[in-house]
Amino acid sequence: MAELVATLASTHHPFYLRATTMPPEEQIPQAPEWKRKVELYRETLSAAKPDILVMVGSDHFHQIFLDNCPQFLIGKAERYDATFYNEEREFGIPKYVLEGDMDMSRYMHQHLMDQGFDFAFSNELKIDHSIICPIITVRPDNDLPVVPIYTNIFAPPLPSPKRFYDLGRAIRKAIDDYPSDKRVAAIGTGHLSLELGGPRQFMETGPDPEFDRQAIEWLRAGDVEAILANVTHETMAKSGNATHGFLNFILMLGVAGPEQADYVDNLDLFHTMEAYITWYPKAQAEEKAA
Ligand SMILES: [Fe+2]
Repeated sequence: MAELVATLASTHHPFYLRATTMPPEEQIPQAPEWKRKVELYRETLSAAKPDILVMVGSDHFHQIFLDNCPQFLIGKAERYDATFYNEEREFGIPKYVLEGDMDMSRYMHQHLMDQGFDFAFSNELKIDHSIICPIITVRPDNDLPVVPIYTNIFAPPLPSPKRFYDLGRAIRKAIDDYPSDKRVAAIGTGHLSLELGGPRQFMETGPDPEFDRQAIEWLRAGDVEAILANVTHETMAKSGNATHGFLNFILMLGVAGPEQADYVDNLDLFHTMEAYITWYPKAQAEEKAA
C-alpha cells in the first residue's frame, strides 16, 4: 500500500516569488526572513522523500465560475498547465506544466465516491496559484507528479467545516489504501484571517490577529474538537471576507488526523499572517520505532 509520508498545510502568498527575487534594495524588509522560513519549511517536505504529491487548493474564479461551481473537484489528467494571465501580470508567477498521475487520480476519485464524496472531475484542469504557490515554495524543481483537488472556499453556500475535516479523513484513507509502493505527501493551502477587496484589506496585520494566533495553536495541537466547536462560516466571515480559506487547513488536519503538528512556523507580514505546518504520520513512525 502507498505510504503517507507528510502532510503540509500552509498559506499561499502569491507575492512570495516576486518579493524574494527582486533586487535586494527594492525588497520589503521582511523578504530575507520570509525566504529563510520558506526554505526551512521546504526541508520538511524534502526530508519525507515523496514520490507523488496530492495537492489541495481552490480555484480563484480562474477556471471555475458561478455558472457551474462544484464543491469538490479532482483533476484526472496526464499533465496540467498552470498560472493564469492575471497571476503572471499581478504576481509575476511564471507558467508551469505539472505532471499528473492518472492512476492515482482515478483511484482517488473512485475511493472518495465510495466514501460518500460525490466529486466532480476534470480531464482538462488548469491550475492556479493555490497549487502553484506551494510548488514554488516547497518543491520548486516541480519534479513530482501531482493529484490536484480543488475545494470551494469562495462561492457560498460552502460545505461545513466538519465536511472539510471528513473529506481530509477520506483522502487519508484513499492514500492509505492505494495499492502502490509510492510515498505520498499531501500538501494543501488556504488562509488564516484574510480580507480581499474589503475595508480591512492591507492593514498592518491580517484582519483578525487573535483568530490567527488561536488557529495556529489549534493546528499545532491537532485540536479538531476546538476547531469544530468554534469555527463556523459566520465566525470566519467576521474574521475577514476570505477567511473561509481556513477550511482547507481543517481539511489538511483531517488528512493528518487529530495529531500534534511536528513543525509549526508563522510569519507576520504587513497584511496577513503566514503559516507553515507539517505533520508526519504518527502511527507509522511509532511502528517503525517499535
Ligand atoms: Fe489565493
